Amino acid sequence: MKGGELQIREDGRLRHFLSTEGLSRNLLTEILDTAESFAGVAEQSVKKVPLLRGKTIVNLFFEASTRTRTTFELAAKRLSADVLNINVNASATVKGETLLDTLRNLEAMHVDMFVVRHADSGTAHFIARHVQPHISVINAGDGRHAHPTQAMLDLFTIRREKGADFGRLRVAIVGDIAHSRVARSQIHALNLLNTGEVRIVAPRTLIPARVESLGVQVYHTLREGLRDVDVVIMLRLQRERMEGGLLPSEHEYYRLYGLTEEKLSVARPDVTVMHPGPINRGVEMDSQVADGPRSVILQQVSYGIAIRMAVMSMAMQQGMSPG
Ligand code: NCD
Repeated sequence: MKGGELQIREDGRLRHFLSTEGLSRNLLTEILDTAESFAGVAEQSVKKVPLLRGKTIVNLFFEASTRTRTTFELAAKRLSADVLNINVNASATVKGETLLDTLRNLEAMHVDMFVVRHADSGTAHFIARHVQPHISVINAGDGRHAHPTQAMLDLFTIRREKGADFGRLRVAIVGDIAHSRVARSQIHALNLLNTGEVRIVAPRTLIPARVESLGVQVYHTLREGLRDVDVVIMLRLQRERMEGGLLPSEHEYYRLYGLTEEKLSVARPDVTVMHPGPINRGVEMDSQVADGPRSVILQQVSYGIAIRMAVMSMAMQQGMSPG
């Protein structure tokens, strides 16, 4: 499910944004730079630029979401696009025909972009393969496969906190790697930017098979995994995707893998703490850390709007004028 060729136009520019896998370092950097040009829009008294005026964007969400859907909606509105929100309660499997029918009906309404979230891996790619040539598809999370705009907003946050030289950074991703589309997209993106060291820290039951092939170092204890890291990204336990007893109890998980000030003390003194949300306080992380001075969890939410503006405007081939 690489999809690099599906995502890029013949002239090398972005058409769909489905996954960070298979993209180039230049393209990821262009997304970050473009987001930088949009970050200021939120500070203006009129929080709008006219780049996507006259375009219609459909948020097609088959799975619950608050942060991701609202930030996509705000991003589209700040680009002056018209936005339609469609929340569909779907069964676990993609019913190909039903989904195609939904698409054909929306296409008949002359829409320009689909932002898609679905519980099944591969749905955004499936839609991208079937839409009319002028339509772009943005993946807002598919199953446990990919969540590329989340990964990009995380890179944007890291770049703002630590500077653009990812080569000197140690980043630890902690928690439920096995069920996390966020972790997968982050690992590909961090590797593309040549991050010095990418670690994953989790109990054996929450680490996917053959994870070393992704180019990460694997740790099973926080004390080892967090030693001297510059950035720690905590992940939510994806209970809705777990089958059977992968964990003894939340209490036990917190004791071993929950981030506390004490456990964080082995990281670098200026360590940055991140989480894509929603946080389970007292499961992945203590409130003292989540609300503490090293946490940038709410900045991640703000930056998510700038990143989504960047990706949407690039896919629609509209840039900010230089200067
Ligand atoms: C993530 C998701 O939905 O994959 N959240 C998000 O987009 N803000 C992570 C999660 O649900 O834990």
